[in-house]
Amino acid sequence: MANSCGRLLWLGALVIVSTITTTSADDVATYIIHMDSAAMPAAFSDRRSWYLATLAAAISGSSAVGDRILYVYEHAVHGFSARFSQAQLARLKQSRGFLACHVDALVKKDTTHTPAFLGLTADGAGLWPVSRFGDDAIIGVVDTGVWPESASFSDDSLGPVPPRWRGACEIGPGFGPSACNRKLIGARSFFKGLLALDPNLTLPDPTPRDDEGHGTHTSSTAGGSRADGAAFFGYSPGKATGVAPWARLAMYKALWSGFGGATSDIIAAVDKAIADGVDVISLSLGIDDLALYQDPIAIATFAAVDQGIFVSTSAGNEGPFDGLLHNGTPWVTTVGASTVDRTFVAAVTLGEGSVVLGQSLYPGSSASKHRQLPLVFLDQCDNITLLKNNRHKIVICKVAELGIAVQNLQIAKVDAGLFISGDIFLEFYIQFTYPAAIISPQDGPTILNYINNTSEPKAMLRFKQTVLGTKPAPVVATYSSRGPSSSCPSVLKPDIVAPGSLILAAWPTNSSVGVADGNQLYKDYLELLCAMNFTIPQIKIIAKTTSIDCSNATLDLNYPSFIAYFDANATSAGSSGGAAARQFRRRVTNVGDPTATYRAEIVQIKGFTTSVVPERLVFTERYEKQSFTLILEKVSGRKADTESHGSLSWVEEKGKYVVRSPIVGTTFIPGL
Ligand SMILES: *[C@@H]1O[C@H](CO)[C@@H](O)[C@H](O)[C@H]1NC(C)=O
Ligand SMILES: *[C@@H]1O[C@H](CO)[C@@H](O)[C@H](O)[C@H]1NC(C)=O
Ligand SMILES: *[C@@H]1O[C@H](CO)[C@@H](O)[C@H](O)[C@H]1NC(C)=O
Ligand SMILES: *[C@@H]1O[C@H](CO)[C@@H](O)[C@H](O)[C@H]1NC(C)=O
Ligand SMILES: *[C@@H]1O[C@H](CO)[C@@H](O)[C@H](O)[C@H]1NC(C)=O
Ligand SMILES: *[C@@H]1O[C@H](CO)[C@@H](O)[C@H](O)[C@H]1NC(C)=O
Ligand SMILES: *[C@@H]1O[C@H](CO)[C@@H](O)[C@H](O)[C@H]1NC(C)=O
Ligand SMILES: *[C@@H]1O[C@H](CO)[C@@H](O)[C@H](O)[C@H]1NC(C)=O
Repeated sequence: MANSCGRLLWLGALVIVSTITTTSADDVATYIIHMDSAAMPAAFSDRRSWYLATLAAAISGSSAVGDRILYVYEHAVHGFSARFSQAQLARLKQSRGFLACHVDALVKKDTTHTPAFLGLTADGAGLWPVSRFGDDAIIGVVDTGVWPESASFSDDSLGPVPPRWRGACEIGPGFGPSACNRKLIGARSFFKGLLALDPNLTLPDPTPRDDEGHGTHTSSTAGGSRADGAAFFGYSPGKATGVAPWARLAMYKALWSGFGGATSDIIAAVDKAIADGVDVISLSLGIDDLALYQDPIAIATFAAVDQGIFVSTSAGNEGPFDGLLHNGTPWVTTVGASTVDRTFVAAVTLGEGSVVLGQSLYPGSSASKHRQLPLVFLDQCDNITLLKNNRHKIVICKVAELGIAVQNLQIAKVDAGLFISGDIFLEFYIQFTYPAAIISPQDGPTILNYINNTSEPKAMLRFKQTVLGTKPAPVVATYSSRGPSSSCPSVLKPDIVAPGSLILAAWPTNSSVGVADGNQLYKDYLELLCAMNFTIPQIKIIAKTTSIDCSNATLDLNYPSFIAYFDANATSAGSSGGAAARQFRRRVTNVGDPTATYRAEIVQIKGFTTSVVPERLVFTERYEKQSFTLILEKVSGRKADTESHGSLSWVEEKGKYVVRSPIVGTTFIPGL
């Protein structure tokens, strides 16, 4: 329950390392306190002074407030984070306007995939070809910091910083005023929460400088300058697709190499990004298995979206099984990871002439180019001494998981490596820093048999062979987390897939062009939260609103996709047992030509009859709204598949536009 301030269980791409709290006698811990702003007494002129007074009363002494408070949140949360003993917390809970508290926790990026987490395709696969789309959009990235000297942050050919920008460049040793420019327009760091969790911690670099690489990579991929040359060394030239070269970037460093990040800091980062005036917030982190009113990312991003900010978050790396996605929050765009239609191939030519293909993004020309090197099979490659003894050979490793073996060969400085592996996280490793390639378990025996039957086995490696037109493509990466969302099953997630975990798809740069009607969306989200049977205080944690009317509660959010749950054995659709059909109601807005007629085209779902009423939408003006109903009827007597897919497309009669929505029917039983 929200009020229990219990320890939360954090799983997934962020895993808990510990909920370190000082174990002093008074049992002080950091809490994020959610307050009901409607309850603020008239005597206070602003929320901040009310929070400080509430805090002072709870800890009985206003002099100590400065030592106890970490952050006053202005937007992302109505409330603050501070350190309390159990007795003080009990007093605070009696305060007027107290809604809920969450104990702060240290969360850490899952090191299985870092620091080797580098973009799957540095060239972004052409998702951002019309680079004007990025023009002057301000992208706020919550991550591990930024390395401002990277060519990606060059501001050549960019105009002045947009006047609406209210952010700051927090300088420090080694991160001077020149770190920021017209490209990297802001940089801040957040560590109060982290230090409160572990006072003994020494931060290697408290400035916004990236000491890990992840933040530099995510921010430059999203909005790096064209100068960088989007191609990854020699691979798939075709510069600057996949980046928004005219966008502006602001880094909010709240994840710390080796430590992770504190929830209180991550909320503070989103809070500041909203205040600074970003247009987009990108968070490549998420927390599994929390109700929306407990999930700090869901809570903090609601305020951002309410202010017209586009929020993109990662779906997580818990695939391929269903239902393990995080950030399945209806108001954020949840991005899964996909492959692209190209493979990066390394050719291994064995001494006897046969060729085996592997995957590699090794950027250099190989040490063994035009030259054969001896081959040696070292099994799991877990003996560094043995690796060092075979340094001048092509070392072959056979491993289930690539991480440690890839690292070991680097430590031992071997000349070249071949990894026989079926690791589903292959994409995380193929940007090798030494000549190496990944060989599929099917192709492995060719090499191993050759070694076994040859007295002096040798091979030659060739890199930089890009094979285009890989089919099928794109496909969802094996490791990418699948829906449905446990925190909000009625909304189909993820929303989109993109190469890697980064959103590169178009975001609205001009709010007047967007379809979203802010007030309407806000009302829709409230109706959804009501229908999820959350209590009014729980809804207030998210919505931060004064009055909540649940009279029109509905799970049928006006969302551009459809998901229907049904009993595996029932002959009718819908979770409500007896219903013969499941209906969805949607409103759409004409953002194309003023007069337009759209006709519904349905790709039927196996086991269902799908229909739409009306089948034609006739618009006579721009921004005109129309509604339609989609009806899913279970074909009687037919046993349902675990999951079936279809779609509804609105096809403009002049053939100019097609607006397609996926439809999923499933027997999956969702929920936390
Ligand atoms: C911090 O360091 C002190 C002295 O080394 C030690 O006694 C204390 O337990 C440490 N605290 C934490 C939270 O690790
Ligand atoms: C690692 O390899 C070296 C050299 O072959 C060998 O002496 C040592 O015993 C091996 N260590 C392990 C743990 O197998
Ligand atoms: C190669 O031969 C060794 C013993 O001679 C055997 O243990 C190993 O399984 C063989 N490898 C393959 C791939 O057949
Ligand atoms: C090579 O050796 C393997 C065993 O390691 C054996 O199964 C295979 O038949 C041999 N191939 C040739 C061409 O000799
Ligand atoms: C962008 O917004 C401004 C102001 O709302 C509007 O005048 C302009 O036409 C919009 N641009 C486009 C391309 O729609
Ligand atoms: C909310 O509660 C009602 C009444 O108990 C129930 O019928 C409905 O299924 C619940 N909805 C959800 C999403 O749990
Ligand atoms: C509920 O829906 C009705 C009918 O559309 C509308 O008149 C009323 O204002 C809505 N109530 C709320 C609280 O939105
Ligand atoms: C569906 O029916 C089968 C066989 O009668 C039964 O084993 C299974 O538990 C049922 N599933 C559900 C969800 O009721």
